[in-house]
Amino acid sequence: MDNENSLLSIADPSRPNAGRIYDYLLGGHHNFEVDRQAAEHLLAIAPFMPKQLIMIRWFLGEAVRRLIEEGYDKFVDFASGLPTMDHIHEMAPSGTRILYSDIDPVTVEYAQEIIGSNPNIRFVECDAGKPETLLESKVLEILFGSDRKVAIGFNGICYFLSDDVLAHSFKALYQWAAPGSKLFLCDADADPEQTTDNLKLVFDLYAKIGQPIYNRTKERLMEMAAPWQLDDPGLLSLDEWIGMGQSARVEAVEAWGGSEKGFYGVILKK
Ligand SMILES: C[S@@+](CC[C@H](N)C(=O)[O-])C[C@H]1O[C@@H](n2cnc3c(N)ncnc32)[C@H](O)[C@@H]1O
Repeated sequence: MDNENSLLSIADPSRPNAGRIYDYLLGGHHNFEVDRQAAEHLLAIAPFMPKQLIMIRWFLGEAVRRLIEEGYDKFVDFASGLPTMDHIHEMAPSGTRILYSDIDPVTVEYAQEIIGSNPNIRFVECDAGKPETLLESKVLEILFGSDRKVAIGFNGICYFLSDDVLAHSFKALYQWAAPGSKLFLCDADADPEQTTDNLKLVFDLYAKIGQPIYNRTKERLMEMAAPWQLDDPGLLSLDEWIGMGQSARVEAVEAWGGSEKGFYGVILKK
């Protein structure tokens, strides 16, 4: 990592971090040696993981493309990770207002460097479990004015939030957003009662690095998200979203040990 030394004051380089593991698996360079070691461990358990993570980004790109076509020009995004690899501002026309956020200060620091001085884009630190801190922030007010009809990204984060925290986030977003707002998200459809041995190894790894994973089925997530309503094209697996056929999912399902579940994406509306 370039500038590694300058980041030591805001990050603990002795502890792997989920966001930087994700960056490494996507082929990025914003990670420490401990992150790379944890990622390699994950790859040994789940070699198809990078493909799944890239599919999350492709879903995000497809959802953003649709939302832009519908006229959305303001995006607030939680747990954004690094804004590279087809993230929102790379898909949106210039002039689109985008407020990215993440809980990891290293991600935020690097993201700000990547974005540079574009006045329509900001990247700030925020816990997706406490979205009100961002929704009520000065930076949001400056970027969006009083307009609250926005598209909200919540991708690759629900499984890092407990039921209580996630329910709070969905509610806070719904209460804040104006009618007509959209919430686009992807998550893993995982039944806590049917965890395979392979999956348990992955969960153990995340628990060890202090980022426990909370499993829930897509039906449970939709119950928790109410009164957000399902929007077109419905709740689909990632390969359906990106028109890839089912090969990637079949590969993952076989490797996970026969579960029919996997990552899915959905757009919800208020
Ligand atoms: C799987 S990545 C998702 C990145 C991006 N949203 C995407 O879909 O490609 C998960 C991100 O969530 C961040 N994260 C983990 N817990 C968080 C929390 N409570 N609040 C905000 N971000 C969090 C991590 O730092 C990481 O950048």
